Amino acid sequence: MAFVTSKKRTHYCGHINKEHEGQTIVLMGWVDTRRDHGGLVFIDLRDRYGLVQVVFDPNKKELAKAKDFRGEYVVAVEGKVIARPDGMVNDKIPTGEIEIEALECEILSEAETPPIQIGDEKVSELMRLKYRYLDIRSKKIQDNLITRHKTMQLVRQFLDNENFIEVETPILYKSTPEGARDYLVPSRVNQGHFYALPQSPQTLKQLLMIGNMDRYFQIVKCFRDEDLRADRQPEFTQVDLEMSFVDTDDVLEMNERLLRFLWKEMKGAEVKDIPRMTYDDAMNDYGCDKPDLRIPWKLKELTEVLSQTGFKVFDDVAARGGSIKAIAVPGYENVSRSKMDKLTKLVKQMGAKGLVWVKKTADGYQSPVSKFIDDELFGKIYSACSAGDSDCIFIVADDFNITCAALSMLRITLAKELDAIDKTEDKFLWVTDFPMLDFDPEEKRWVAVHHPFTQPSDEHMPIIANKNEKEYAKVKAKAYDLVCNGYELAGGSVRIHNQDVQNTVFDALAIGPEEREQKFGFFLEALKYGTPPHGGVAWGFDRLCMIMCGTDAIRDVIAFPKTAKATCLMSDAPGTVELDQLLELGIRLSESAKENLKK
Ligand code: AMO
Ligand code: AMP
Repeated sequence: MAFVTSKKRTHYCGHINKEHEGQTIVLMGWVDTRRDHGGLVFIDLRDRYGLVQVVFDPNKKELAKAKDFRGEYVVAVEGKVIARPDGMVNDKIPTGEIEIEALECEILSEAETPPIQIGDEKVSELMRLKYRYLDIRSKKIQDNLITRHKTMQLVRQFLDNENFIEVETPILYKSTPEGARDYLVPSRVNQGHFYALPQSPQTLKQLLMIGNMDRYFQIVKCFRDEDLRADRQPEFTQVDLEMSFVDTDDVLEMNERLLRFLWKEMKGAEVKDIPRMTYDDAMNDYGCDKPDLRIPWKLKELTEVLSQTGFKVFDDVAARGGSIKAIAVPGYENVSRSKMDKLTKLVKQMGAKGLVWVKKTADGYQSPVSKFIDDELFGKIYSACSAGDSDCIFIVADDFNITCAALSMLRITLAKELDAIDKTEDKFLWVTDFPMLDFDPEEKRWVAVHHPFTQPSDEHMPIIANKNEKEYAKVKAKAYDLVCNGYELAGGSVRIHNQDVQNTVFDALAIGPEEREQKFGFFLEALKYGTPPHGGVAWGFDRLCMIMCGTDAIRDVIAFPKTAKATCLMSDAPGTVELDQLLELGIRLSESAKENLKK
C-alpha cells in the first residue's frame, strides 16, 4: 500500500514514548542521521516534533530500500514501537526510551548532500541565509518560529479580550514619517507617482480613532530604509495599537497587563512593578534612553567636583557647560595599561576625546591625570561614585550627549566582559517625558524625536504655541518607550487631536504649507471633524520574540530575514527588472545605476 496516498501518517516522531509500546505506527520525516551496525541500519527520523530512532533490517525484502537512505532523504516508515534494550536508553531525548522496529518503508523524496549541515552552529551565517529553508529545519530556528507563533496567538487573544479590533491597513500608501527613508513603489497607471510602504500605520490608526473604532490593533509589517543593526530589519513586524479617550497612564497600564500576560504564559514568570523613569533621569543615570537595568552600575555626575582641577580638558568642559561623568566598575583594579588603551579607543568611537581611569593600589591612586589631581580629590571622586577600593573609575568629559554615549557603551561592554549582567530575570522600565524636538544640524531644522503627531506636554505647550524656538530643546512630549534588558521593545505617545496644535507642531518642524498639504492634507482635514483624545503604542514584535527566544540576533526569529545590506541571500532580492517593465512605469535608470548593474 502506498504511503501518503493510502497509508497515512499516524504519529509524530517527537511524540512517541513508552505509552506507545507495542503499537504499529506510521511516521514520515527527514533522515537526520544514519548508522550501519552489523547488518542493521539505524536512522534518527526527524519531523517538526522531534527525533525518533528507527531500526531496519535491510535483509528483509520490504526494508531493502533502507540501504539507500541518506541524510535529508524524506522517508515514510511503518513500524512497531519497542522498548530499547537495557543500556541503550538515551535520556537526552524525549523519545530515548523507545525505538521503532521498521516493518515497511518508502523513499518519498531523495536529497542531494545538503550544502550545510542542519543545525551546525559552525556553518557561516552567509551559508545559512542562502540555504534558509535548510536552516529552518534546525531545532533552533524551528523552536524560534514556534515561539513566535505562540506569542502572536497570545497577543491576539489578549487584545481581543480587551475589546481591541484588528484592522488591516494598506501597504501601498503614502509616506508615514518615523525618521527613516521610505521604500517607494512606482505606480504604472499614474506614471510619475509613487506609493510609499508604511514606516508604520501611524496616521491610519489615528484615522481609525477618528472613525470611532475606539480600540484598534494590528500585527503589521512596517518598512524602513535605514542603517541596519543586530536588532533592526528593513521590514519588521509591529504589534500596533491605539486607544481613544486615554492619557499616558491608561496606555501604559494596558500595555503592562499585556506584558504580564505574555511573560506569564510564555515564560511562567511574574513581572514585578515596572519602574517609570524620565528620559532625563535615564540619560543622567545610565547615559542612554534604553538602559539595561540588569547591570547594577550607574553613571555619576562629577562636573562640579572636577570643575577646577588644573587638567585643562576637565576645566574647559566644565566651563563651557559640558558634562563630566564617571562610572565605577567593581573588580577591575588589576587591569593592564594596554587594556586601558583599548577601552580608550572604544570610547573614542563614540566621539569622546579620551578616557581617564583611576585605580586604588597599595601605593596610592593610579591615574593618567595624577599630575593634576591629588589624593584628596581622588578620595572625593571615589566617594562621589560610592566606589569601593577594588573599583576602577572611568571618567569622560565632553558635551552631555557624547559623555553619555561613551560611558553607556563602556558600561555595557564591561558588564558583558565581567559577567555582571544578572540574567536571572528580564528587567523592564518605561522611559517617559522624551524631548519633543531635536535639532538636526545637517538639515538645520528641528525634527520630531518620536513623530510629528505626538502631543507636547501641557507644561511646554506654550513654548510651541508661541514659536519660542530658543526653548524648543526643553519641550517634553507625552511620549514613552518600553525598555527590556536594554532593548527598546515598544514606543508610543499620546497624540495631538486638534488641528491647530498639529499645525503649530508642523510649523515648529518647518514643514511648510505646500509640503503639509501634499503629505498630510487629508490627515489635517480629518482632525477637523471630531477627533477623540487618543494615544497608543507599537511593540517591535521581532524584538519581543528575540527576548522570548533568548537571542541577540533579530534574524534568528524571522523566517526569511535580510542581511545588513537589506538583501535576501536566498532569492537575491532586490533584483533587476526588464527594461519593458521600467518603461511601463515611466522610469529610466541613471548612468550610475547602469554602472552599478555592470558590477
Ligand atoms: P517606533 O518607531 O518607536 O514607533 O517603532 C515601534 C517599535 O518598533 C520596533 N522597531 C523595529 N524593529 C525592528 N527593525 C526596525 N527597523 C525597527 N524600527 C522600529 C521597536 C520600536 O520600539 N508609530 C509609532 C508607534 C506609536 O507612536 O504608536 C512607531 O512606529 O521595537
Ligand atoms: P593627555 O593629557 O591628552 O595625555 O590626556 C590624559 C588622559 O586624559 C588620557 O588618559 C586621555 O585619554 C584622557 N582624556 C583626554 N581627553 C579626555 C576627555 N575629554 N574626557 C576624559 N578623558 C580624557
